[in-house]
Amino acid sequence: MNQIAKEISDIFLQKFATVPNLYYSPGRINLIGEHIDYNDGYVMPASIDKGVYYAVAANGTNTLNFFAADLNEALSIDITGVKKLDNWRNYVLSVVNEFLLLQKPVTGFDCVFGGDIPRGSGMSSSAAVEGGLAYAINEIFNCGMNRVELALLCQRAEHNYPGVNCGIMDMYASINGKKDCVILLDCKNITHEYFPLKLDGYKIVLLNTKVHHTLASGEYNIRRKRCEEGMVVLKQELGVTSFRDIKSAADVELHKDKMSTEVFNCCKFVVEEIARTQKAAELLQQNDLAGFGQLMYAGHWGLSKLYDVSCPESDFLVTLAAADKNVLGARQMGGGFGGCTINIIKEEAIEKFIAETTVDYKKQFSIELEAYVMAISDGVYRIVE
Ligand code: GLA
Repeated sequence: MNQIAKEISDIFLQKFATVPNLYYSPGRINLIGEHIDYNDGYVMPASIDKGVYYAVAANGTNTLNFFAADLNEALSIDITGVKKLDNWRNYVLSVVNEFLLLQKPVTGFDCVFGGDIPRGSGMSSSAAVEGGLAYAINEIFNCGMNRVELALLCQRAEHNYPGVNCGIMDMYASINGKKDCVILLDCKNITHEYFPLKLDGYKIVLLNTKVHHTLASGEYNIRRKRCEEGMVVLKQELGVTSFRDIKSAADVELHKDKMSTEVFNCCKFVVEEIARTQKAAELLQQNDLAGFGQLMYAGHWGLSKLYDVSCPESDFLVTLAAADKNVLGARQMGGGFGGCTINIIKEEAIEKFIAETTVDYKKQFSIELEAYVMAISDGVYRIVE
């Protein structure tokens, strides 16, 4: 058991009388395919070795007792009174609420959780919080749901109390990940394939801009609305049913005058990013990491110039990466407006690249960069000693 799991377990034992089940629920990275999980695209995430640890046990009452260890905050609430509150409380209560809406046999439980995902880093701590709790509840109360159903439940939970109209990628990756593999997730049909990630001498490194995004701030939902608006036009003009059916951005271009510039730019990006992700999957199978990296760069500039979800800090880090021959690809990862960039870097060059980038970044923005060399873990699981 690692140190954090032990701490969470110890806190649980101090607070509650029973012995809990322990779970690990990972955050995620996404290699390519951004903002297309809610646009019927393909995405390529993986679950990681940073995540949320849970200690949970049924308590035989009707009370839910939560303790968020990282924040030192507690919540006790009767299960019949589950409702929208605020902050982390919305994530856990919304998950419980979804089980109740399905009339699953859930009763009171005690729960301590905490982890090591830097907040606002774009590694999806919220999906890890939701997925870990959903998995624990499903197991402890024998709700009989499979991993795909749990991911969909968590997505509904995030839409409901927290109010973020997210796609399926984050929770799907957190729940269905596989060690050393990336997931090629078909977000239209909700099916996936695993590809072993063979990086031969390269590693995935995240650079944390430390600029925090809050998806709930509304920008995310605005992007989603723009795509929906564009799709209404494209359906009518091109006779398609989804972004996936549009052959190339040139087809979108034909109908530019029927949309606002923002809506057009978003639609163009989506069509291009869907194509990039499909191409990236082919290149990965051919072990063409250099070609894969070029698609990452192209994706970044699409996010920045067309989808308008980047920021000067992310653009700066990607520009530095592109100027270094040891970095095959880099782009901003996740919802946007900061968080982390994801980089594929030659192993022996990592230390130097991080050191130099840290200095340049500090000079430019007066922010201390953080870097993480990533490992890919299994999706949510129960920790068995
Ligand atoms: C957030 C959302 C995901 C996805 C990404 C962007 O992480 O939760 O569903 O849309 O942004 O790719």
